[in-house]
Amino acid sequence: MRKLNIVIMAAGKGTRMKSDLPKVAHLLAGKALVAHVADLVAQVTATPPVVVVGYRMEVVKAALGTRPAGFAEQLEQLGTGHAVIQAAPRLDASLPTLVLNGDVPLIRQATLERLLDTAGTTRLGLLTAVVADASGYGRILRDAAGRVLAIIEHKDASADELAIKEYYTGTMLIPPGKLKGWLAQLSSANAQREYYLTDLVKLAVADGVDVVATHPDETWETEGINDRVQLAAQERACQRETARRLQEAGVTIIDPARFDVRGTLKCANDVQIDIGCVFSGSVSLGSGVTVGAYSILHNVSLGAGTEVLPYSHLDGATVGANGRIGPYARLRPGSVLADEVHIGNFVEVKNATIANNSKANHLAYVGDATVGARVNIGAGTITCNYDGANKHRTVIEDDVFIGSDTQLVAPVTVKRGATLGAGTTLTKDAPEDSLTISRAKQVSLANYKRAVKKQ
Ligand code: UD1
Ligand code: CA
Repeated sequence: MRKLNIVIMAAGKGTRMKSDLPKVAHLLAGKALVAHVADLVAQVTATPPVVVVGYRMEVVKAALGTRPAGFAEQLEQLGTGHAVIQAAPRLDASLPTLVLNGDVPLIRQATLERLLDTAGTTRLGLLTAVVADASGYGRILRDAAGRVLAIIEHKDASADELAIKEYYTGTMLIPPGKLKGWLAQLSSANAQREYYLTDLVKLAVADGVDVVATHPDETWETEGINDRVQLAAQERACQRETARRLQEAGVTIIDPARFDVRGTLKCANDVQIDIGCVFSGSVSLGSGVTVGAYSILHNVSLGAGTEVLPYSHLDGATVGANGRIGPYARLRPGSVLADEVHIGNFVEVKNATIANNSKANHLAYVGDATVGARVNIGAGTITCNYDGANKHRTVIEDDVFIGSDTQLVAPVTVKRGATLGAGTTLTKDAPEDSLTISRAKQVSLANYKRAVKKQ
């Protein structure tokens, strides 16, 4: 871990987002932009960042969650240089200072490390990139020998300068002992009447401090987000990168362009993920798991060999090995399924444990229940867990067979080996190894005449 000061600038409104939410609190891959930047810097230094906050600062602070951070308030947003002036009292003058934009969320650790290594402790380091069209960005001005002289903001640039393809990406390392003196020399005599942090470059050059520029490995890493078109572009770049890392680790992703992780997805080998799936929170998939198209998994763990068929929605569920879930299944929080459990179409499970080899294949509700092993739950079975005021538990012991269209009025227990006849409304415990049935006796009336429509 490096010894560094970190400043993350996050005080702006982000006017071009046309949003009440501060720009840096918008989500990318399920995480606020500013939280991406905080997580990046946490990979290179243990020093908590100083986050410059201003516009709706409570929202920005909340977007960082429990990440360690100090805050500097910038009540008026007079520019990026002014933002760092607010942070300066909290910085250790004997250390280099890394300043990052809160709206550039996808920089990779290796790219950042290269900047830090190249600049060291004596030079001013800039992360720059070369693109076909650098519109909107500050351009890197170099002399004939290729030495960096200055950054010219887009709005201050001449036609010649606008043609420059190298731009400043918003990440700068300032050597120790220099920052306060340079910040004191910033002026707002420019097109935007702002104190530009980027003016530090010409001050460094005037001071005889070397300026070095390093580049990201991939140009998408350093693209900024100023509007929702760029937000969507960066979302896709991030998802493609997540997909690529998983593919390299042995996961089949049918189409990385239709693949979304908004949290963490851990996969063992030979997992296969079909199109249109969304993974959020913390999801872990065992070896050989297949996830069918258009399935949504949030905080889920699936054991090896489990198959999720299309259009299933799993939330807060743990599934053992070789399960079969879906199509159109819904597992809600507290669903804990052991090995080889089958949950079929239009079956909802909530706050229920189901032991190995049990099946509910069609149209059922299993809520607040404890289900044993080798149980067969027929189509249309419902645990009536709620009496209008309280929830009650249904216990179904091992080797039970529940006929179709049965209501289990909780609290109730179906004892080991019991059989419930189809259509039973169970209000008392069913004894083991017996057939329990509650059903009006079947009668047939001969020569029955159906009603005839009046003319
Ligand atoms: C800035 C750079 C530009 C660079 C680009 C890269 C300056 C003057 N310009 O331009 O050279 O190419 O980033 O993405 O630095 N912020 C504050 N307080 C302020 C102003 C901004 O905290 O007073 C924060 C914003 O919340 C944002 C970041 O600084 O997270 C960048 O601000 P933004 O206005 O988007 O700068 P750009 O115009 O993109
Ligand atoms: Ca920006």
